[in-house]
Amino acid sequence: MSAPLASKAAANVRGSAIRDLLALTERPEVLSMAGGLPAPELLPAQRISAAAQNALADPGALQYTASAGAARCRAAVADRLGVDQAAVLVTHGSQQALSLLAQALVDPGEVVVVDDPVYVGALQVFQAVRADIRAIPIGPDGTDADELTRLLEAGVRPKIVHTVSNFHNPRGVTATAATRDRLVALADRYGFWIVEDDPYGELRFRGETIEPIAARSDRVIRLGSASKILAPALRVGWMSAPVEVLAVVERLRQAADLCGSTLSQLIVAELLADTPWLTAHLATQRTEYQARCDALVTALHAELGDRAIFAEPEGGMFCWVQIPGIDAEQLLPTAVEHGVGYVPGAAFAVAADLRDCLRLSFATLTADRLGEAVSRLGRAAL
Ligand SMILES: Cc1ncc(COP(=O)(O)O)c(C=O)c1O
Repeated sequence: MSAPLASKAAANVRGSAIRDLLALTERPEVLSMAGGLPAPELLPAQRISAAAQNALADPGALQYTASAGAARCRAAVADRLGVDQAAVLVTHGSQQALSLLAQALVDPGEVVVVDDPVYVGALQVFQAVRADIRAIPIGPDGTDADELTRLLEAGVRPKIVHTVSNFHNPRGVTATAATRDRLVALADRYGFWIVEDDPYGELRFRGETIEPIAARSDRVIRLGSASKILAPALRVGWMSAPVEVLAVVERLRQAADLCGSTLSQLIVAELLADTPWLTAHLATQRTEYQARCDALVTALHAELGDRAIFAEPEGGMFCWVQIPGIDAEQLLPTAVEHGVGYVPGAAFAVAADLRDCLRLSFATLTADRLGEAVSRLGRAAL
């Protein structure tokens, strides 16, 4: 009998149901609220093109760069985060940062705590290193710190606690200052790393910004990305962490892909450092996402009334909606027949029963089309 094709680590990775579903919802007649794709109209193609021209004037732009990232890009990210350049490593999207971190810090069987519902890309990287994954609920205040305390008091010793601190994917919520403080106190007491996954923090269109978890402790590794604020195709993300963590990650990065794209990193460096342009661009993005979010919320009230339970998002791209009594997975083919797509909550579940929930993205469709999408959803869910 021959050995199985896939390694135990690969066999342990759950396929992303979302990617499979996206194929279904990508049909042209379907108004899709499924993908977490930035508004196509807001991708700054002309500014990126100008930055690419400028970058190409530098003979180094088409060469390999340092594994930790092109110096100009590290400096621009460090400036924006208000940290030292030595504390920043530029990755191929923040997904690579997650993947390298999991390899750098977690041995098979070590415990990693994730939110339930979870960002599936995080679940996959922790599965790939054969972590012992424990999921705790995430509610309106962010990660459930009471539940985490119970787990720790029961003797569980995680290596990592992962969360999306701002405008959680998929749950839409933001961790309160109190939750952030409690997570940090637990990390200090029990000696785990907090991975603060934060690609959406710049997209706040309502309410007050809350200081990052990373500003509260040295036991935090913060991840960020150019994907949601500039363009996903640039594939530039970053990790800000203590230098001893970065040294391990940098070694693994050499094994993974040697280095990132110098050209992309120089483009991002220019755009992040162009403060007047970036400030105006982010303001446009926030205004447009707020308008889209408001259109979605208004349509949900109008079409589903009391049947839909949700909190109004304050930023980011997602609204998490519970419709008690439905099975969102079973409803999806009917919804697609009605010309609307979403991701069923179960696709993000680790242990929780989330079958009556769905994730709606308000980022990709215009306000008008979101209104139409929700009326189709209302008809499908009758
Ligand atoms: C929470 C979270 N982290 C990380 C990523 C990865 O983004 P990227 O690799 O494009 O930076 C995403 C993408 O949707 C995300 O939602």
